Amino acid sequence: MCGIFAYLNYNVGRERRYILEVLLNGLRRLEYRGYDSSGIAIDSDTSSVTQSKSKPYDTAPPVVFRQEGKIESLVSSVYTEVDQLNLDLEKTFLVHAGIAHTRWATHGVPAPRNSHPQSSGEFDEFLVVHNGIITNYEVLKQTLVRHGFTFESDTDTEVIPKLAKFVFDKARDGEGGVTFSQVVTEVMRQLEGAYALIFKSPHYPNELIACKRGSTLLLGVNELGGETSRHLFHDVKALTANDKPKELFFSSDLCAIVEHTKNYAAIEDNEIVHIKDGSVSILKFNYEKEKPASVQRALSVLEMEVEQIKKGDFDHFMKKEIHEQPDSLTTSMRGRLKDGVVGLGGLKDHMRTIRRSRRIIFIGCGTSYHAALAARPIMEELTDIPVTMEIASDMLDRKALIFKEDTAVFVSQSGETADTLLALEYALQHGALCVGVTNTVGSTLARKTHCGVHINAGCEIGVASTKAYTCQIVVMVMMALAIGSDKMSTLAQREAIIAGLTKLPEKVHDVLKLDGEMKALAQSLIDEQSLLMFGRGNNYATALEGALKVKEVALMHSEGMLAGEMKHGPLALVDEYLPIIVIATRDDSFSKQQSVIQQLHARKGRLIVMCSEGDASLVCPDGRSRVIEVPRVVDCLQPIINIIPMQLLAYHLTVLRGYNVDQPRNLAKSVTTQ
Ligand code: F6R
Repeated sequence: MCGIFAYLNYNVGRERRYILEVLLNGLRRLEYRGYDSSGIAIDSDTSSVTQSKSKPYDTAPPVVFRQEGKIESLVSSVYTEVDQLNLDLEKTFLVHAGIAHTRWATHGVPAPRNSHPQSSGEFDEFLVVHNGIITNYEVLKQTLVRHGFTFESDTDTEVIPKLAKFVFDKARDGEGGVTFSQVVTEVMRQLEGAYALIFKSPHYPNELIACKRGSTLLLGVNELGGETSRHLFHDVKALTANDKPKELFFSSDLCAIVEHTKNYAAIEDNEIVHIKDGSVSILKFNYEKEKPASVQRALSVLEMEVEQIKKGDFDHFMKKEIHEQPDSLTTSMRGRLKDGVVGLGGLKDHMRTIRRSRRIIFIGCGTSYHAALAARPIMEELTDIPVTMEIASDMLDRKALIFKEDTAVFVSQSGETADTLLALEYALQHGALCVGVTNTVGSTLARKTHCGVHINAGCEIGVASTKAYTCQIVVMVMMALAIGSDKMSTLAQREAIIAGLTKLPEKVHDVLKLDGEMKALAQSLIDEQSLLMFGRGNNYATALEGALKVKEVALMHSEGMLAGEMKHGPLALVDEYLPIIVIATRDDSFSKQQSVIQQLHARKGRLIVMCSEGDASLVCPDGRSRVIEVPRVVDCLQPIINIIPMQLLAYHLTVLRGYNVDQPRNLAKSVTTQ
């Protein structure tokens, strides 16, 4: 996944230094999406850039900065190059359009030539930043090569600016004038795949065009010197008529917009957004029609605070997000538990169909899959509908059977994960009712499912998912309560769960006090090669998720295992050196876990046991094992409590081992390739 960002100031003077900082800061906010290379493009001064040949346009040529590595390497190289180019940082622009990109390599190694903005070639007549994948780039490349274009990068993106130049040159050779949006419309007609794109061109100075199909794209509008009106606007009129000073932003994520404005619009698939003379027009692309139609769009108000995207007093986002869980869980439940009844507006119209379905299928990847696994027992128990689990990629590999009588629940923090989205396409084709559970408003998952629930966990920036995991579980427990609410036989159980949900944030607050203890545990494990985690029932998911956290950030081999399977193989690994975490909090499986602990003791296992408060002597009668005591809550909510010490352990292990906790090696926040 990559991040794209653009900033256009109109009728308000901004120094070049300020423009650069807005662009670089936008990239800092998006860095969690990809952090192996980055780049920006701004305008130069005609006088400061010496060109040997005369350029094919009258305006100042753009300057493009590209760098491998983290955003901070781009920052230092930008200021060095600015010096070398003699660019005046204090020069004020009344109107200026800049674009930026942070990359997570899919086509071509991280290197300046593969970084974006990608260019049409000499004179940078068209520059493009891209999030997504162009699937037909090879065919397009061959065609463009036949027309004399030479390629410098290994990216799929490079065909886009070159195609734009090809379209532009052809139109100009013909009748003459061609608008920026006509060029982009023609480019879009040729592209296949998933993308969000922003175009900048010196042929169209101070204009920007963005378009999308698949990947998320947002527009932010900040009218200066007065409230931004939230009336419908379309085409040039509503925003230009006033000619007011304003700032406009494009971004892959609201995180990069929130510090500038709360007024935004989520751009929909096949829309082309053209900013010209400070006004915004939105056009709808249609393969059948030559000209895209104009569309109207209302601005939404962003319900996010700037604090969410900052680390505050914490050293890392992961730690902040772990500690935010009492609040994120409260927000997730807000307005949804009233007078002992669960109300999920997003599912209401489909409840009858869900209740009648032949089975519920939970589909997701990684942590989101684990969250669904944690919610599976209660979903079956309260609804009496069989629940099956599918890892999205495996479901596609097997072409798993799915029927129109099924309800398929897709779980994804980002709502952008390629495997999950492809599985969604597959389920839609087979006629299943598709329900989305996501943290990202306006995401593809949110838009393409028939109905769904937003988890409202707030912006999650650390690559390792923490608060989104616990909010996903809470939302799926609430779904189970809502679907099963027509059954009298489970009334008392449902009331107990609702009471448990109400007290949950307080219990999470209590378990977070184990932070120091988990740091000490991490210290004792710092040099280990491997770690096992055993769980069962409600907490099988906790073992899988705890192990995933440790492996993805602390870069330590760790495996989560079903405790019931221990004697069928893994027991052979047990000796006095290998650390094993056993989750043995109180629920129906407690006595079975006690017996697992005995068997592990009998093999001299090095155990760390997680148990309910007050149970230390029951799980560790001889006092030899390390014990983590956690608050007891209703069984189906216990995985939310139990994962928190594991998140803290993974965090501290990572920091103590000296690794990057927010941006682990080889991982990006969401995986938009198969
Ligand atoms: C691990 C993690 C990943 C994601 C997985 C799916 O901490 O974050 O395992 O859970 O890549 O991503 P989403 O939930 O965005 O579909």
